This record gives sequence, structure tokens and C-alpha cells, in this order.
Amino acid sequence: MSPRTTTPDAGPPPVAAPREDGRPAKRDFLEIPDLSREELVGLLARAARLKSGEERGRPLEGKTLAMIFRKSSTRTRLSFEVGMYQLGGHAIFLSDREIQLGRGETVPDTARVMSRFVDAIMLRTYAHEEIVELARHATVPVINGLSDLLHPCQVLADLQTVQEEFGAELAGRRVAWIGDGNNMANSWINAAYRLGLELRLACPKGYEPDPRILKRAQAVADVKVVRDPREAAEGAQVVTTDVWASMGQEDESEVRAKAFNGFVVDGALMKRAAKDAIFLHCLPAHRGEEVTAEVIDGPRSRVFEEAENRLHVQKSLLVELMGGRPGRGKR
Ligand code: CP
Ligand code: NVA
Repeated sequence: MSPRTTTPDAGPPPVAAPREDGRPAKRDFLEIPDLSREELVGLLARAARLKSGEERGRPLEGKTLAMIFRKSSTRTRLSFEVGMYQLGGHAIFLSDREIQLGRGETVPDTARVMSRFVDAIMLRTYAHEEIVELARHATVPVINGLSDLLHPCQVLADLQTVQEEFGAELAGRRVAWIGDGNNMANSWINAAYRLGLELRLACPKGYEPDPRILKRAQAVADVKVVRDPREAAEGAQVVTTDVWASMGQEDESEVRAKAFNGFVVDGALMKRAAKDAIFLHCLPAHRGEEVTAEVIDGPRSRVFEEAENRLHVQKSLLVELMGGRPGRGKR
């Protein structure tokens, strides 16, 4: 039985026992600001060392990550599963269609049960509140593998890709977001908030980013929402976009296609960016909609490095969250 058993239901959220080194036993990663600037810098540095092979080993031997998917995934599933294996641990893929959560078992009960078996839980879902609820009731770290509001793991990989191109310093890097104010846009705003990126988001009216996330960032960082993609792209070192209709918004595809008319990253838009600008896209992409084939398959595109970096940066995250205490499989 877990030594960190808590009283059920209405009680306060579980309070984790401190680690021997004094840090809290449970750290969640629901959004980028869950990590301090220093922690983010360290996490990205370790990701680079893991990629180069400078840092190796099996620090998560005997540990298990449960991955719950309520939405489709290629990169997120692969990178977490392969990452756990490479770190000496194990990952279990759980589709919500196959576990009791999909038949109405509550999130708190799922959190409590899973915490007895595994060392961390990753969830990809619709409502962000569901991840918050899972984290509140789990006694092991919870990782946001994408919600309608945020996709923090992807933006960590994007930041690693930017560092590879331009060097480790991220403060002041000029980033242009073109298109929907969606989970990716919100996570870029969070990255600007923590790391001091200069961010210009060009979004059509009615498709702006989350106002609370924007306001928090604008208090400390140079983040602006504009209407004209050309204004956002001007002088940017990173130009990035995403699909017009995210997972769960398929019914809105036609309406969105009209609203996003003109919000396309094409060769002309890239010409407005800095000479050495790179193009990023979290993928999957729709060539001919939010980006032309000329750009995504062109010389300035770094989308496949970006996809690969999901592996390295998430390994670094897993070590940060799951390392340093005995695994459940090792008792
Ligand atoms: N970028 C990303 O999260 O890809 P998947 O949906 O394939 O996991
Ligand atoms: N905004 C996209 C990202 C996919 C990785 C979505 O939520 O579907």
C-alpha cells in the first residue's frame, strides 16, 4: 500500500511527503509555468545532453508511466513510450475507450487507483480541468499530454529546436504565431512568460488565445496579439502555426476555413521574417491550409527536428519529475 494514502473524497488535495532532499515528492507538469525559469533552462540543457549522448543511463529503472489518451496521437505516444524504455522504465498505453474512465469511473478514483500502481500519469484529454482534477487526486506526478487549453510538452520540444538553431539564450528571441489562439498558442504565451520571448500572435477575430494566460504574460513579457500575419512575421526568427481546427473541433472545420482565410504561412510570409528564420509546426499539418508545402518541406523548416525533440525533452522532464525516489516496481 502507498505510504502516502490520503483520506478519500471531500478532503483537501493530497499532500505529498517531502523527498529526502527536501523537495516535494510530487511535481506535476500541467503547464510550462509549473517549472521556474531556472528549472526550464536546466531541463532544456539536459534534453540537449540526452540527445547528444553526453548523458546516458537508466535512471527510471523499475518505474512505470501510465499514458491515458482520450484523443489520437502519434508523436506524444511514441515519444513518451520510447523515452520511458530508453530511461530503463516502462510505459503503459491506455485508451479511454478501453479503461473504466471511458465508462464513467470518476477521475478522482482513477487517480487514486493508478497512483497505487504507477510512478507517473500522462493524460491527453479535452477539458483542461480534467487534468487539474487528476493531478489533485493523484499522489504521483501528472503530465499534461495535451488539453484543449494547453500543449506544454510540445512547446518544450519547440524551445529545444529554437536553441539548436540560435543558441541557448531564449530571452528576446522573436517568435511569430500565425493562426488559431489554441492550446499551442497558449503554451507559447506561457513560454514567453517564463523565458522572456518576444511573441507576436496573428489571430482572426474570435480566435484569440486564452485571455487569462495572455494577461499574465503581458504583465512581464513582450507579447502582442495582432490581426495581420505580415505584422507578426516581420523580423521574426521563428514562424510557427498549427491546424485551423484542432482535435474535437472537426464540426467547425468549414466555418474555421473561412475565418482563417489568409492565415497561411507561405513563401511570401517567410520572406518578411528574418533571413535565418525557421519554420515550426507541432504536426500533424495540413499542407495547402495553414502552411504551404513549399514552406513545410522547404529549407527553413525544422518540423522533423521538432518532432524528434519531443523524445529528448520529455526524457528530461520524466527524469525531473520521476527521478530521485524509489520506483513502485522496486520495493
Ligand atoms: N504534436 C503532437 O502532439 O502530435 P501527436 O498528436 O501525434 O501526439
Ligand atoms: N492544436 C492541435 C495540436 C495537435 C498536436 C490539436 O489540439 O489538435
